[in-house]
Amino acid sequence: MFKKWKEKWKVSWLQFTLIICTFACGGSLCGFAGKKLLAFRLLEKNALYFIIYIITISILWPFCVLLISIPLGQFAFFKNYLQRMANTMTGKGKGNKYIAIFASGAGSNAAKIIEHLQNNQHIQVALIVCNKPQAGVLNIAKANNIETLLIEKDQFFRGDAYINVLNTKNINFIVLAGFLWKVPAALIKAYPNKIINIHPALLPKYGGKGMYGHFVHEAVVANGETESGITIHYVNENFDEGKHIFQASCAVSKADTPATVAAKIQQLEHQHFSRVVEEVVLTAK
Ligand code: GAR
Repeated sequence: MFKKWKEKWKVSWLQFTLIICTFACGGSLCGFAGKKLLAFRLLEKNALYFIIYIITISILWPFCVLLISIPLGQFAFFKNYLQRMANTMTGKGKGNKYIAIFASGAGSNAAKIIEHLQNNQHIQVALIVCNKPQAGVLNIAKANNIETLLIEKDQFFRGDAYINVLNTKNINFIVLAGFLWKVPAALIKAYPNKIINIHPALLPKYGGKGMYGHFVHEAVVANGETESGITIHYVNENFDEGKHIFQASCAVSKADTPATVAAKIQQLEHQHFSRVVEEVVLTAK
């Protein structure tokens, strides 16, 4: 049972223990404060007393757990937890999906996705994750008032892959749009079939480590290919090997250069990626 909760909350065992302690101490504090309040009112212990007691502790409980969560360093978790609880009770935000876009380049695809989804009632681009402080995508995030997270290599690969941060932001889908680091197994496990990537070639051709951006287009031209294209696919533990979701192609002629192929590919990406993202996210379980 504990393992199931831990996986649901996507937290480490240490954080899980602190969360359970917060629940326990917050609950005890709430019970104690409720009794003290009712004793102060000098109520008799009859049926009415118990009804008032239950109403009192229901009101006190969120404040008590939030209070206890501060010294235990779990305030962010409980703030989100209570917010989700309130949303469930009021039906607000029901079924909403929150996307994190991972990008480390200019961010033209991220911009298209943000624009495409800005009026979508059910999907929100909630976070831009980036590993380069100078990347253009950070300006796009700023212009659109989207929160950003600058990630650091050691924590991404040898730490918790920022799963806790994504969890506290309620992220339930990840879109890689020009993100060049390999996605660690822990993150794939935390988001099964919920991470998709766009690759600027017709996979399985021109994929794998080192095959990205202009390197792909240079190889396509050097090999005299007559077509290239884009592949949108789920991410697994190997570079560019996850299940394909969508492909689109364009002709490559002898007159083409890597730069002209890049322009054709970018046109295909801008034409299709945001629509495919929307479809996949909406239908994801
Ligand atoms: C896109 O062409 C995308 O396909 C490519 O990076 C570019 C990002 O452009 N991704 C890869 O090569 C991943 N292997 P953008 O920053 O303008 O969206």
